[in-house]
Amino acid sequence: MTPETRQQALAGATLTYDGRELALPVVRGTEDEVALDIEKLRGATGAITLDPGFGNTGSCRSAITFIDGEKGILRYRGYPIDELAERSTFLEVAWLLINGELPNRAQLSAFTGDVTHHTLLHESFRRFFEALPKDAHPMPVCAAAVAALATFYQEPETDKKMSETAVRLIAKMPTLAAYSYKHSIGQPFMYPRNSLDYSATFLHMMFATPCEDGDPDPLLAKTLDLLLILHADHEQNCSTSTVRTVGSSGANLFASISAGISALWGPLHGGANQQVIEMLEKIEAEGGDVQVFVNRAKDKKDNSRLMGFGHRVYKNYDPRAQVLKRSCTEVLNRLGIRSRQLEIAMKLEEIALKDDYFISHKLYPNVDFYSGIIYKALGIPVNMFTVMFAIGRMPGWIAQWLEMRHDPATRIARPRQIYTGAVKRPYVEMERRGT
Ligand code: CMC
Repeated sequence: MTPETRQQALAGATLTYDGRELALPVVRGTEDEVALDIEKLRGATGAITLDPGFGNTGSCRSAITFIDGEKGILRYRGYPIDELAERSTFLEVAWLLINGELPNRAQLSAFTGDVTHHTLLHESFRRFFEALPKDAHPMPVCAAAVAALATFYQEPETDKKMSETAVRLIAKMPTLAAYSYKHSIGQPFMYPRNSLDYSATFLHMMFATPCEDGDPDPLLAKTLDLLLILHADHEQNCSTSTVRTVGSSGANLFASISAGISALWGPLHGGANQQVIEMLEKIEAEGGDVQVFVNRAKDKKDNSRLMGFGHRVYKNYDPRAQVLKRSCTEVLNRLGIRSRQLEIAMKLEEIALKDDYFISHKLYPNVDFYSGIIYKALGIPVNMFTVMFAIGRMPGWIAQWLEMRHDPATRIARPRQIYTGAVKRPYVEMERRGT
């Protein structure tokens, strides 16, 4: 397209339907993304749009995260993900996402202090965990626990209260997650330790016991912090859209985020990191023949997919996977761990990236492809992997929810449908319904 024709295309679009014409205004983002505004469509034509999975639908304007899936770009508030991963901490990134700017020294210190002082759970919360079966998956436990937090903080939602809720959620999520794990293995809960940083406290609550209470390995804590940064936001994905949708009804932040955790649990979303490790374990147990598995993932009659591959938005290498691949090798080398699963993952990637099916479908490794291998090296049990994603995504969910709440354009989320059921028919009495 020449610059002139492009300028014309951006001037506006016209939709012709049933003999009528409707001008569709063009909306442009700061990175030149283009949307056709269809707000007047139904009123003017009686028609709606049909877009299963919302692949072509923008649900909001947002200033938080930018992704260019074709180029493999991810930025939080304008900052490239690889720079944040290398140079910042998770709490710095949380502040950035929520407030729009990197914190100065005083702001970061005050925020860190606030988060640190809200990590404790009310003592009566222990009974919440005791009521659940020991083998409960930690994701529904965390979703229920976050919803239950709303029963402890029931004050009306002023701006000040919403900020406090945001701090409480970031602070208490690791405690809830670690307690759900301790409950599942029958060990006593460990209180957070205020002298440790955010990620180290979590490792302490997960792995220390009253009998053995050393300091967590700083390398492991730093690696965990990196993972949390990479997961912190990803614009309008399934769980974030859920958080916004629930919040658009006026539901509070605890309830909205609890719904987001449930959405994240699914194997096509955050649950994929657990599925990747299970896939690698299966390939290892079956003798390590990677090609057989790649063939099955391509076979339409077989419903296996190459987990950790493909993405709705990225049609190029997911930049988070690139950071994680580097970190995976570094961490395993420094810990002196030889991982057969990392070898299998690298082989899988090598074969898939040269395979016509994966090339033509633009399927590349996503964030979940390497994260499970690192979580394993950190000692995190497989069924906690998605919980780790939820801890990381918390500031993103909060930032998106607050943006939705403060946006005057927000309306209750209420999509339409095309009805395909029976047309009007008379009620059938029981004796005439057959057997
Ligand atoms: N392995 C084999 N084929 C695949 C895969 C895969 N992992 N992913 C997509 N395809 C094929 C799919 O069969 C379809 O082929 P065809 O057009 O020939 O019928 C085509 O690619 C498009 O797939 P889709 O399911 O329509 O794409 P989508 O955008 O709706 O789904 C996805 C995106 C992430 C759900 C999908 O790629 C997938 O299931 N990947 C595996 C699960 C996974 O790793 N999820 C984590 C996503 S990243 C973390 C997050 O943000 O949640």
